[in-house]
Parts: sequence; C-alpha cells; structure tokens
Amino acid sequence: MFGFSIQILFIVLPGVLALYDYHLLPETLEPQHYDLRILTHLNDTAQYFEGVVKIDLWVLQTTKNITLHAKNLTIDKTGISVKSSRDSNCIENVELSEKYEFYIMYLCKELNAGEKYILEIPFKGQLNESQTGYYKSSYNDTENKYKTHYLAVTQFSPTFARLAFPCFDQPNWKATFNVTFGYHKEYKGLSNTPVRKCEKHEFLEDYIWCSHEQLLRTSTYLVAYAIHNLTNAGTVTSLTHNQVVFRNWLQPKIVNQSDFSVEMAPKILKYLEDFFQLNFPLSKIDQLISPTHKFRAMENWGLVTYQENAFVFNEAYDLQEKKETNCNTMAHEFSHQWFGNLVTMKWWKDLWLKEGPSTYFGYLVLDALQPQWEWSDGKITKDLAYFFRHDATNMTRPISRDVKNSTEVLDQFSKYVYEKGALTMRMLHKILGTENFFEGIRNYLQKYAYQNVEQTDLFSSLQEVANENINLNVVMDSWTLQEGYPLITLKRDYKKGEVKVNQKRFIQQNNLQLETQCWWVPLSFVSQSDPNFEDIQPNHWLECPSNETTLKVGTSKEWLLLNPQVYAIYRVNYDEHNWKMLINTLQNEVDYGGIPKINRVQLMDDLLALAALGEQSYDLVFELFEYLKLERDYLPCERGITLLQQYGSLLKDQAAEDFNLYLKQQLTPHYRRLPKLKLIDSIEIPVNEIAFRRFIYTQSCLYNVDDCVSQAVMLNTNDSSISVPANFRQLVYCIAIEKGTTWDFQQMMKLFKNSPTPAQQSAFASGLGCSSNFSQLKEFLDYAIHSDTKSISDCYIQAVTAALKRDNVARETKQHIFDHAEMLNKKFKRKDLEPILMHMVKELTTPEELSELKEHLKDLSQFKEPKLEILGIRQVVMFNIRFRIN
Ligand SMILES: *[C@@H]1O[C@H](CO)[C@@H](O)[C@H](O)[C@H]1NC(C)=O
Ligand SMILES: *[C@@H]1O[C@H](CO)[C@@H](O)[C@H](O)[C@H]1NC(C)=O
Ligand SMILES: *[C@@H]1O[C@H](CO)[C@@H](O)[C@H](O)[C@H]1NC(C)=O
Ligand SMILES: *[C@@H]1O[C@H](CO)[C@@H](O)[C@H](O)[C@H]1NC(C)=O
Ligand SMILES: *[C@@H]1O[C@H](CO)[C@@H](O)[C@H](O)[C@H]1NC(C)=O
Ligand SMILES: *[C@@H]1O[C@H](CO)[C@@H](O)[C@H](O)[C@H]1NC(C)=O
Ligand SMILES: *[C@@H]1O[C@H](CO)[C@@H](O)[C@H](O)[C@H]1NC(C)=O
Ligand SMILES: *[C@@H]1O[C@H](CO)[C@@H](O)[C@H](O)[C@H]1NC(C)=O
Ligand SMILES: *[C@@H]1O[C@H](CO)[C@@H](O)[C@H](O)[C@H]1NC(C)=O
Ligand SMILES: [Zn+2]
Repeated sequence: MFGFSIQILFIVLPGVLALYDYHLLPETLEPQHYDLRILTHLNDTAQYFEGVVKIDLWVLQTTKNITLHAKNLTIDKTGISVKSSRDSNCIENVELSEKYEFYIMYLCKELNAGEKYILEIPFKGQLNESQTGYYKSSYNDTENKYKTHYLAVTQFSPTFARLAFPCFDQPNWKATFNVTFGYHKEYKGLSNTPVRKCEKHEFLEDYIWCSHEQLLRTSTYLVAYAIHNLTNAGTVTSLTHNQVVFRNWLQPKIVNQSDFSVEMAPKILKYLEDFFQLNFPLSKIDQLISPTHKFRAMENWGLVTYQENAFVFNEAYDLQEKKETNCNTMAHEFSHQWFGNLVTMKWWKDLWLKEGPSTYFGYLVLDALQPQWEWSDGKITKDLAYFFRHDATNMTRPISRDVKNSTEVLDQFSKYVYEKGALTMRMLHKILGTENFFEGIRNYLQKYAYQNVEQTDLFSSLQEVANENINLNVVMDSWTLQEGYPLITLKRDYKKGEVKVNQKRFIQQNNLQLETQCWWVPLSFVSQSDPNFEDIQPNHWLECPSNETTLKVGTSKEWLLLNPQVYAIYRVNYDEHNWKMLINTLQNEVDYGGIPKINRVQLMDDLLALAALGEQSYDLVFELFEYLKLERDYLPCERGITLLQQYGSLLKDQAAEDFNLYLKQQLTPHYRRLPKLKLIDSIEIPVNEIAFRRFIYTQSCLYNVDDCVSQAVMLNTNDSSISVPANFRQLVYCIAIEKGTTWDFQQMMKLFKNSPTPAQQSAFASGLGCSSNFSQLKEFLDYAIHSDTKSISDCYIQAVTAALKRDNVARETKQHIFDHAEMLNKKFKRKDLEPILMHMVKELTTPEELSELKEHLKDLSQFKEPKLEILGIRQVVMFNIRFRIN
C-alpha cells in the first residue's frame, strides 16, 4: 500500500499540469479575431521581431484561466491585459507547459460565459534558422558575391505559428486576422492579403508600418508573412472570378529559370476554380521562393512559399521530369486553397483529408492542362507500387490516427499518408463514378467552407450522391482507420461458372497474416469476351466481417480480371489456369486484349509478390514476364524490368551472369526499335517518349545490348556533348566516364568543380559517379562529402546511389559509406539517406549480412530505418534459388 499513498501524494501536489494533462486546448474560449502587429529587425547585427497580439475571445464556458500556445517567445507578463467592454481582469500568474507547448495565464477573476474579451499580449523572439516559425534566410548578391541579403519568412504548418506569436494553434480554432507589419523600408513586406496602407514608424527612422487587408476566417497554420528583397519574376492576372493577381519572388540569379512556373500558376488556379465551381476568395497570390525552406512548398492562403528547387527549371540542364514534378507541386498547393484552406480538418489526425484530395486533384489538373505528359498514369502507377510495398509490412499505421504532440503531428506528413490518401480519393472517384463524385465534392466544399471537418463529413457528402446502396462511412472506415490492405483470391469453378472470392491481409512475411482484419472490398470484374475497362463501378462487394463470397461470373473459356484500372487498393491472386489465360492474351492478342497498362503493371507486381510468398510459382512469373519483349508502353516496361532487377541484383556468380543475359534478351527488341543513340541530338522526341527512351538506352548500355555503349561514347567524343539534349546528357556522361580514360575523368572533374549551379553539378556528378575505377570514384566522393556547399554534398548521394548498382565498385562504395557514416548522419536527413539505405538492403542475401549492416549503422539517428527487414531476406533467398533452377 506504500505505492498507493505515493500516488495520492502526487495528485494533491499543487503541480498545476496535473489538473490539465491533455494535448488539446480547453474548449472554454473561442478566438474570433487576431489583431497582429509585428516589427521585424533584420540586418547584419540585429535579427529579431517584437510584437503585440490582440485576440478577441468569446467565452464558451466560464473559466479562470486562458490557455493557448507559445514556444520560444519572450513574453513580459506584466504587459498582458484582459478586458471586456464592461470589465477589466488581471493576470495572477503564468505558467509554461513544455510538454504541450502551452502558455497558461491564471486570472484574478473568472471570465464569464457568453461574454467577449480582448486579450493583449506583447512578445519578442529571435529570427531562427530552423526554417520553422518566423525564420531568417539569406543569399549572396549576384554581382558582389560577398554581399549578403537577408529575408525573414514564416513556416507555420503544422505547429509552428506558436513560435512566432501566442495563439490558439490548432486547425479547428479558425479566426480572422488583421496583420500590421513593420520593417525597414529597404525591404518589401508580404502577408496573406494585399497591403491596405503604409505609414512611417512613430520613431524608428526609415521603418514603416504596413497594414494588410483582413484575412478571412482561417486556421493559424495558414497565416504567413515575410520581408525580403527578392525580385518579382512577373506579375500575371488570372482569369478567375476575382481576377487574382500573381507575383513571383525569387533571387535575381534564378529569375530567368521561372518562366514556366510563372506562366502555369494562373492557369492552374483558374482550372481548379472551374473544377470545384467555387470561387477562390482572395484577390492575390504571392509566390515566394525561399533560399531555405523546410518543405517543398507550403500552401499559405494567398502567400504560397517554395523551395527554390521546387519552382525553377533550367532548360539547359534539368530533366523533363523536373518540370513536370514542379508543376505538380504547384497544382497540389493550389488544390489546398480549397482542400485545407477553405475546408480544414478539425485535427491533424485527419491530415489525409487535405493531403489526399490535393495530391489526387493535383494529378487531374496536370492531365487536363498538360495532357501530353500523361502525368496521372505515371504517378498513380508509382504511388500504387509504393503503397503495395509499404503497407505490406506490420509496421504501418492507419492514415487517420490520433496524434498527440508536435513530433507526432509532424510525422503524419509522410509519403505514405499523401499517397494512400490520394489512392483512397481515387477509389472513391471510381466507386461513385465521375459525375456523382464531383457533385459530392462540390457539395462538400460548399457546405463546409470556412469550417472544420472530420472524415465522416466527406463520406456523408459523397453518400448523398451515391447510387450505391452501401454505407460509405462503414466502407471507407475499413480503409482509413486500419493499416494494410487485402489480398483478394479468386478460385474459379469453371464447370459451374462460379468464382469464390475471399480476402485476407497481405503481409510480406507470410507468417504474419493478421487474421482479424477485413475490408469492404469493391469488386468489378472484366471478362475476356467483354474487355470493358472504363465502365468499372463495382457490381459486388466483399463485406466485412463476412470475408468470402461466391459469384456467378464469366464463362469457362475466358479469363476474368478483377479490379480494372487498379482503382481499388488491393492485390489479386487467381488460380493458375486463369493466370495462364491472362498470360496467353498478353502474349498473343492485339493490344494485349484490351488490358490497360496500369493493369499490366499490376499483374507483374502482384505475381512476383505472390511468388515471393510462395503463393505462386516463379515458373509462372517467368512465363508472364516473357510478354515484356512485346510491351510497347513505358510504364509496364519500366516496372517489369525494374522488378526483375530488384530480384536479380541479389544473385551471385553464374546465376548473376545468366540473369544478366536474360535481361539483355528482354531489352534487345526494345533497343532495336529505337533510333540510334548517336542521332539523339538531331531528332525531335515527343515529350511522352523521353523517359521511355532514356530508360531503354540506359538499361541497354548497362547490359551491353548491341552497340549501345559505342554509340554513347561516340556522342561524347564528338566534343559536342554539350549539345546532347539535357534529358539524355546524364546517360551519355555516365557511359563516357565508365568506359573512358583517367583523362576523361579529370576533365569532367574540372567541369564539375567549375559548375555554378546545382543543375550543372548534378549533371556532371551523374557522370563521375559511373566511374568503374574505385580510386577515381573515391577522389570524387571525398571531394563531394567534404564540401560545405549543400548542392555539392548532395552529389555524394547521387553518386553512391549509382555506384551501388555497379558490381565492380559496389563493395568499396559500401565501405566508403560506412567509413563516412557519421558525417552523412550529420549532413543529411533521413529522407536523403533512404535511397542509399534501400540500395544496400536490396543487395543483402543472408541474415548475417543484414546484421552486419545494422551493426555498422547503429547509433546513427538519420539511418534509423525501421523498415530494414521489410524487403524480407527470406523471399530474396528463395528467388535466388528459383532462378538458378530455371
Ligand atoms: C540593425 O538594426 C538594429 C535594430 O533595428 C539597429 O539598432 C542597428 O543600428 C542596425 N544596424 C545597422 C548596421 O544598420
Ligand atoms: C483552465 O480552465 C479549464 C476550464 O475552466 C480547466 O478545464 C482547465 O483545467 C484549466 N487549466 C489549468 C491549467 O488549470
Ligand atoms: C527554441 O529556443 C531554443 C533555446 O533558445 C533553441 O535551441 C531552439 O533552436 C529554438 N527552437 C526553434 C524552433 O527556434
Ligand atoms: C556570401 O557572403 C559571405 C559574407 O561575405 C561570405 O562569407 C560567403 O563566403 C559568401 N558565400 C558565397 C557562396 O559566396
Ligand atoms: C481589421 O482592419 C480593418 C481595417 O482597419 C477594419 O475595418 C476591421 O474592422 C478590422 N477587423 C476587426 C475584426 O477588428
Ligand atoms: C534590393 O535588390 C535590388 C535589386 O536586386 C538591389 O539593387 C538593392 O541594393 C537591394 N537592396 C537591399 C537592401 O538589399
Ligand atoms: C513486426 O514483425 C517483426 C518480425 O518480423 C517483429 O519483430 C515485430 O515485433 C513486429 N512488429 C509489430 C508492430 O507487430
Ligand atoms: C510525443 O509522443 C510520443 C509518443 O507518445 C513520445 O514518444 C514522444 O517522446 C513525444 N514527444 C515529445 C516531444 O513530447
Ligand atoms: C474468414 O471468416 C471465417 C468465418 O467467418 C473465419 O473463420 C476466418 O478466420 C476468416 N478468415 C480471414 C482471413 O479473415
Ligand atoms: Zn499538401
């Protein structure tokens, strides 16, 4: 009983937090309006801000304290005041909760329910370099490269507004904002809304105060402001309802690389406004491209901020993919102006409610505005691949899950949540059909504009337009509130014309199947005699918990294919006979029997995953992969070859040689179909062919197909390598260095060192990283890793990623990584190092090698990657053995 009395002692102690130990603010007060005045000091010697925030509070429940968020701010409590029109209160005491980042003010007397008060708090803070809150950044002058220019910018999402001013920093506490912003007049100031008027500072010479128009009801994480002396690359008016005016702010030296983004911005916004049939409510959007930025981009209402790399495009050096990716980023941020800014999740647990739709609609925007890129097919295919792999481990979590502190909130922003969120939206789209889906989406936006939602609000809006007699909330909860996905297995009774369908969770290590999970699975079948892959709304459902059903579909002589367009996120296994009929069609029928490319990709991905689990044979896998020689589309071709390589890279000795020969045979017909590589600078290549051709040329050279290598070398020695189109230059540089002499290497090393821009550095690095002589490669790796310039040390990652793929340098490269692990750990973040790590893991063939790798990397926080096991050593070894038998 001794322990018990101690517990009682703890509870009665006057530790105030024991009274309020919860991660959300009390629901006693509602902030309705913020009046924010901030003066920023920013020069060589002074870099801080000071301000006053006045918050209009509506008292929902009588209370004797005011609890809000503040972190790293200096607050003079004697300056705080709390007043209503009838009454003046005072502060008895204040307290900080580090755990919850709360600032708690204990009042002299109660605030009365139903009354309105004005809380005024003065505060000060340092402009930090952590790229969160209100932070500073800098760049050197273009002409006088030793002159430094500063800027100060905000990054409030998700939980960093509290670093800049005291506030109710939760997405559900929406309020209006009046921002008045003071700074030295040599700077330009921006906030979410246009400047209303500017006036001189009361006493500071050359300082001005500029007040901005009132911002509509919004969450704190979307408020933004900045002072800077960047250059406007162009002012463009869009054709939207408000004729929204765009300005685009960049460092002078990269202004000339912004044309494409500047041109696309107003078009994207206009498209989305028409698409959602809901006007964009602000009158301007400033796009600020910051030399340092924590995320690729941030959708602040009316003041969208970007990383430089996510906005600029260098025609001479960058790949087409970069242009497309950047455009997609902008489309994503602009989709947020509706999904997130206008309609906002109540709490970060439902982050997917803004990221899923913004990601998915971002894809649709690109399809509409740049159809020649065939963007969404490519992205969806990649997302599916990532999802099926990632969500097949026992370490994933539901996309909607509660989060209880800032670290957990930040962790929600993962590729997994974005991509599964997008795939979930796509599944809803296909289940409901295009017309209903968009009607539901428009109703939802209209209904919840300026408000907050939970996922059930989205599902209920869609339910209203659904023809289906299903409960969308129940159906969708099974996908969003639990991790993982099902494997649907079909067993056909060809005599009876029946098919038995069941589900179980797909887990990569098959001893781990969690029998208790089930999903509401939409079933759409396509049959060989009626290959309609467009009209695909589900005709049946596999219910949950009932997990098996028998249906009458198809005739005995034809294949069945489940899940056309892979619109629902599950894998499918068929009986062997059905697989064989599918393979036969892929091999022999015109246009693959109408089976769309995204299904062709998935058939390969599923079958290989099933073989790895021992659910199907590798013989069947190789039978299917034979059709690859006939494949004319990029996506299936790329996936097929890449999948084979992933497994093949684990083979050793004779098996490895045999495998290389096999891949060479797969590639040869593709290579022979393309024009000679030597002609690359003289023929126009359609934009949707660029990636395909580069892939085939690159792979063909890697496996020594025909004259690929000598063609590439010829291109380089023409001494016109600079005239090789940017999209193919890396390929040519790579071969030139791999097959070239020490002199070639030294020449390119010189070019690398003299390159002024990251794009150029990266192009040369892609060549240098291909050296087949490790002592040369080491010279480059040492130079890159020790550089203080970020874009140069980034080239280390690029080079080792290439080198790890090359047998003759892989071992020494791995050692180089181990030898520099601590330095890498300091210089890079986990997401930068992930590709290297994944490559090293893929090469492992025994559990002993895995232990060795873990031993080398233990204690290094950025290398901590809980997914080390997921590739499953076991399956890899099995593949190894099976291929040898083949
Ligand atoms: C920098 O700003 C501070 C605060 O505004 C000011 O006192 C100081 O004189 C400024 N220094 C220079 C070099 O302009
Ligand atoms: C502040 O007041 C609310 C409601 O009156 C109460 O629930 C909460 O525990 C108080 N907070 C603290 C830290 O005392
Ligand atoms: C908060 O302040 C601490 C101590 O001054 C500092 O170490 C930390 O970097 C600051 N955090 C941010 C995000 O600025
Ligand atoms: C930028 O200017 C600072 C201050 O003069 C100087 O120390 C630094 O080396 C310059 N950086 C570059 C990349 O030129
Ligand atoms: C915000 O500022 C504008 C312009 O001064 C003013 O008309 C408006 O009343 C202010 N809003 C609030 C809620 O104080
Ligand atoms: C602002 O930028 C302009 C043009 O780049 C330059 O002429 C001016 O000196 C800069 N001012 C400051 C204070 O950096
Ligand atoms: C996942 O599986 C591994 C074994 O493969 C096991 O060690 C680990 O505890 C499991 N994790 C969870 C969350 O079940
Ligand atoms: C956030 O919560 C997680 C899980 O409860 C915990 O492990 C972590 O230490 C917490 N982080 C902070 C900064 O409180
Ligand atoms: C399917 O349902 C049956 C009976 O309802 C149950 O025994 C079985 O464990 C379930 N299997 C899976 C994979 O959920
Ligand atoms: Zn986003």
